[in-house]
Amino acid sequence: MSRVTVKDILNRKQKEKRKITVLTAYDFPFAKLVDEAGIDIVLVGDSVGMVCLGYESTIPVSMREMLHHVKAVRRAVKRALLIADMPFGSYQGIESAIRNARRFLKEAGAEAVKLEGGKRIMAQVKGLIRAGVPVMGHLGMIPQSVSELGGYKVQGKTKEQADQIFEEAKELEQAGVFAIVLECVPNSLAKRITKSLKIPTIGIGAGPDTDGQGLVIHDLLGFESSVRPRFVRRYAELSQTIHKALAQYRNDVLSKKFPTVKESFKD
Ligand code: KIV
Repeated sequence: MSRVTVKDILNRKQKEKRKITVLTAYDFPFAKLVDEAGIDIVLVGDSVGMVCLGYESTIPVSMREMLHHVKAVRRAVKRALLIADMPFGSYQGIESAIRNARRFLKEAGAEAVKLEGGKRIMAQVKGLIRAGVPVMGHLGMIPQSVSELGGYKVQGKTKEQADQIFEEAKELEQAGVFAIVLECVPNSLAKRITKSLKIPTIGIGAGPDTDGQGLVIHDLLGFESSVRPRFVRRYAELSQTIHKALAQYRNDVLSKKFPTVKESFKD
């Protein structure tokens, strides 16, 4: 079992011509399952803030919280490429970007970092790459800028917006990122970017023509959530399964069906 490297991710597009699979994971048991399933990239997204920590957006997520989750995921992931999302405020300047990215690589064992944005963060991206940190880009609907974008909405619908995202993708590639997440952009824009880049694109709400596909694991597994984006396919209904199991447990304890003598120890 060989580890997936940044080079392998590039080769998926450039040589093997096969799709790249990406999932988020935030803790040991889920990360282990994702790794065992043969997924190429495990992303410890700052979505951890909304999915696991109960925040209303990803803005409050701190470096401390991210490091805690990346370390737990690192202990489980033996094969996939492990990427840490840089949280809001951790890459405002080149120095802070390098300092914080180094913590993800040195203390938590991540193999690359992901940053949201284009032109605005180009200097930080270049600084990180010069410092030897592999970087994944993220364009389109970038959740850390949700207020500025006016909500969780599809980006790049107008020609002007689409051209800007396209230009930023080209600039990120020139800066040296090894892949770009395209989140919630029209299929046609994702296709145009994918065709014109040598590095892979990873879609999440970007249609069928990207080089790879990502999802938040809790969405795919059918955990309860107030939002149900149309780009999510639910492969299980775990909320329902868990509710049923917990109700059954409660009933069994109340009705003295659990534990039985068989489920206990003799003297
Ligand atoms: O934080 C996250 O989970 C992400 C993915 C949606 C790409 O950035």
